[in-house]
Amino acid sequence: MPLEACRISPLDRGFVFGDAVYELIPVYASSAFYMQQHLARLARSLGQVRIQDPYTRAQWEAIVENLVRQSESADLAVYIQVTRGVAKRDHPFPENAAPTVFAMANPLASIADEVLQNGVALITVKDVRWKRCDIKVTGLIANILAKQEATQASASEAILVRDGFALEGSASNLFVVREGIVHTHPKDNLILPGITRDFVLELLTELGLEFREQAIPEEWLYSADEIWVTSSAREVLAATKIDQHVVGKGVPGELWRDVYALYQKRKV
Ligand code: PDD
Repeated sequence: MPLEACRISPLDRGFVFGDAVYELIPVYASSAFYMQQHLARLARSLGQVRIQDPYTRAQWEAIVENLVRQSESADLAVYIQVTRGVAKRDHPFPENAAPTVFAMANPLASIADEVLQNGVALITVKDVRWKRCDIKVTGLIANILAKQEATQASASEAILVRDGFALEGSASNLFVVREGIVHTHPKDNLILPGITRDFVLELLTELGLEFREQAIPEEWLYSADEIWVTSSAREVLAATKIDQHVVGKGVPGELWRDVYALYQKRKV
């Protein structure tokens, strides 16, 4: 339906409490990329916050495919949000509320050549999020404050640091290359298990590059040969600046070039 025709109650718990989870699925050439992994993560998020999954896997697939079919662009970002539904404002789960589902497809912005040539700037910020960052909840205020700090510092992304370790970005996962080995934080409760993160690990295997899933000391950010951030919306970007430091040689690194090139081949 047209956006103007969508109606959601102000008493929806997604609005009142941020009592909701979401997914973002990239679509290339009208085909949803890693749809099964995204829908599995959605089902897991729903399960973790105990919102009843309103649809079967086949019904979710049909919703995504229907949005893709109706869109003019072939490259899209499909957004899905599920809330616990509408009820009088009260913290405990309502007894008779049905989940609210909102899904939309927007054109997927392509990455500017300038960004690919020069890389992006990052800043570090303290991670003040809760300790269930593995669930894709819509309550993103801590992420938004971090991202806004980056924006005001003319940087593209904020890297979240907790207890001396660099975990992930405000809306991306983090990879750090040192001495030819690629490092990324293990899948635990402190990061979102990114689908792009998994895809990049597959590409590293295909390229025969060594990687380790391990916690990344904050200091490594300032002595890294390469730093990458990954997400469904921005694929794999090379960072060439972090805080006031230049990363590696100040241009996107060699490993990033190989990974990016293979990414482009494998994504369609
Ligand atoms: N965010 N970590 C965080 C905190 C994220 O919000 C995201 C993605 C990722 C990367 O996950 P994936 O590779 O599955 O997209 C990691 C999406 C794109 C968003 O909020 O718009």
